[in-house]
Amino acid sequence: MQQLGLGIAITGSGSAVPPTALSNEQLSQIVETSDEWIASRTGIRERHVGSPELSLADLAAQAGEAALSMAALPAAEVDLIILATSTADDLFGSAALIQAKLGASRAVAFDLTAACSGFLFGLVTAAQFIRAGTYQNVLLIGADMLSRWTDWSDRRTCILFGDGAGAVLIQANERDCLLGFELRSDGTQNNCLNLAYQPQAKSVLEGVDLGQGNYQFITMNGQEVYRFAVRQVPEVIEKSLYRAKLTIDQIDWLLLHQANQRILDAVSQRLNVPPEKVISNLAHYGNTSAASIPLALDEEVRQGRVKPGDIIASSGFGAGLTWGAAIFRWGR
Ligand code: UT7
Repeated sequence: MQQLGLGIAITGSGSAVPPTALSNEQLSQIVETSDEWIASRTGIRERHVGSPELSLADLAAQAGEAALSMAALPAAEVDLIILATSTADDLFGSAALIQAKLGASRAVAFDLTAACSGFLFGLVTAAQFIRAGTYQNVLLIGADMLSRWTDWSDRRTCILFGDGAGAVLIQANERDCLLGFELRSDGTQNNCLNLAYQPQAKSVLEGVDLGQGNYQFITMNGQEVYRFAVRQVPEVIEKSLYRAKLTIDQIDWLLLHQANQRILDAVSQRLNVPPEKVISNLAHYGNTSAASIPLALDEEVRQGRVKPGDIIASSGFGAGLTWGAAIFRWGR
């Protein structure tokens, strides 16, 4: 058996979005808004939304299959599948279903929930398993269908979100391509962004009351989340760069969670990253939560813009609140 080092390499990527695109113009027929307002405040022009027949597991499996195919790794050789999602088809988890769909019969599979930071948290989790020598091939999929939980009568939130999936294959490698990271949580600000369960009292026996209810639509304090992102994201990127022993001018790409173009602009300005190094595809997809970073990465890789050896500074941020950054090299 080949002796591998305890580093990681990101060797393949894939992505998938539902076929139906919903433009700002169409949205303005649903709520009182306009293409001008949405585009100028967020940079978003359209987003993709899943039909009732489309499962999150299907979308995620499509992205996962494309990542395996790029890396030319047979599904049977995957050791671990991590599905970063907040919108699983099944609260018990959807990762095992993806394992079955891919035929990754040897892989253990679990869901990881950290909202829009899910991909970053998943990347670091995958790296820990590889660095510990436990696993060699980890398929990390970020997938979300927030359209299911969006209040389509709330113009403050329904303009932002879209559905999608992105995946990367992370493999054991002599050279460690995860150069630095920093993850954070702050539950004191939990009420800024929620997809919350609301229990209703149900008495099953005298003296035995249970809370049986439903999940409510997404609620968000947009201005608070905006301020939090612009303040915290540069800080975790700088910390990760410090750990990687790199300076910001040594990175090739800034790849942020695709929430709002104004956030991308403000963070890149604070860090002094020129616009041509900032990856942005949110005009076409909106905020796809855990999918946004791998979806954008996959597009850049397939267009040949991100090349093997390129150094990427990435950051995710969102509900929890959670946020984090990672500096990684694309390819081996
Ligand atoms: O993954 C993390 C997820 N969350 C985020 O990234 C959200 C971060 N926050 C944001 O992106 C921005 O706060 C928003 C895009 C959500 C909102 O932009 P804003 O510049 O903070 O707008 P605002 O909430 O201050 O609203 C300004 C005005 C309000 O009208 P009044 O009260 O000034 O008369 C809103 O009612 O714009 C109004 N408004 C809209 N008008 C047209 C809010 N939403 C809309 C809309 N169309 N869709």
